[in-house]
Amino acid sequence: MTAVRITATGLFTPPATISNEELVATFNAYVDQHNAENAQAIAAGERAALAPSSVDFVEKASGIKARHVMDKAGILDVALMRPNLPERPNSEISILAEMAVAAAKDALASAGREASEIDAVLCACSNLQRAYPAIAVEVQDALGAQGFAFDMNVACSSATFGIQTAADFVRAGHARSVLVVNPEICTAHLNFRDRDSHFIFGDVATAVLIESSAVSPSGGWDILGTRLKTQFSNNIRNNFGFLNRCAPDGQANADKLFVQEGRKVFKEVVPLVSDMILSHLAELNLAPQHLRRMWLHQANANMNRMIAQRVLGREASNDESPTVLDEYANTSSAGSIIAFHKHNSDFAPGERGLICSFGAGYSAGTVFVAKAA
Ligand code: COA
Repeated sequence: MTAVRITATGLFTPPATISNEELVATFNAYVDQHNAENAQAIAAGERAALAPSSVDFVEKASGIKARHVMDKAGILDVALMRPNLPERPNSEISILAEMAVAAAKDALASAGREASEIDAVLCACSNLQRAYPAIAVEVQDALGAQGFAFDMNVACSSATFGIQTAADFVRAGHARSVLVVNPEICTAHLNFRDRDSHFIFGDVATAVLIESSAVSPSGGWDILGTRLKTQFSNNIRNNFGFLNRCAPDGQANADKLFVQEGRKVFKEVVPLVSDMILSHLAELNLAPQHLRRMWLHQANANMNRMIAQRVLGREASNDESPTVLDEYANTSSAGSIIAFHKHNSDFAPGERGLICSFGAGYSAGTVFVAKAA
């Protein structure tokens, strides 16, 4: 069977950042304003006062210190509290495609390859900005890539599902060079007025170039094995879609944005993912000590600590399970790819690692890789 490699990865990081301090200041200004406007109803017990958020809580509960965003002003404007990204005319490239193209070009440059050598483009992400035409086809066109392209959405697991899909195309001979792009404007689906989750997400785009070893230049990553898993749950959900509309005030209804039962997610996903990693390792005749590093989905630092501990049987060091949550927050499908992109240059040929993502669905994917010579 054709061997498949990850030849290169790419990253587009929006220049603007929002610190926890800035985000919490806006949230608390909103709380003060809401409580002042509703003071009588609150005093009469007809309405509950909103509670403020806290910088300390956010960092302790999640490991997040800041996030990169596509629009800072709109999110921090107490009257708006959402990114202000005006719709572009159809004659212009869409914002999601533009981010994906930037990440794709970064991956192509580091692989030393031309876009015309690409056979397929998969846009695998949580938050597609329209139904059709596929963002992936727009990216294919903007890059000048060949073949075919399509979008796929498996929420935070989209990247690993995209990698397995691309690897299967290569193994089956349907393509030799596949670009998987993961553009995420997560801040557009986040309810910045929800105390429990207003701090969770940031924006970014990543790209992964997956190729047949027959054409992949030296120095990439051999894919040793991939596994995907899904198990239905309502605990992370977003009901936005074309069968429903935004509320008249222009703010989406709360359930048309990201909602989660954070505690339940934590309790249910940690065993699901750690068991999956251990059973996939065993299928590949590998033991946890054969792994130099795990690039885990970046949703919550405590969750990653527990998953890594269950896999290794001891606490993992930052070197074994690096985090990018402090700078990027949760970037959905892109998180594990950012961690891989930023923390892989110290690997020697033959050393092994795991890219692992998990999230809504529930869904989870494992991609074991070894540094190629
Ligand atoms: N500021 C201050 N306090 C807050 C707060 C905020 N922004 N949000 C919640 N709290 C308080 C709660 O009121 C609660 O107080 P209480 O104990 O007095 O009732 C306490 O903090 C704990 O709240 P809880 O919601 O249980 O926090 P948590 O420790 O579970 O952390 C998450 C919240 C969301 C960070 C955490 O559950 C998580 O990350 N879960 C997994 C999420 C995940 O991976 N999702 C996938 C998304 S793709």
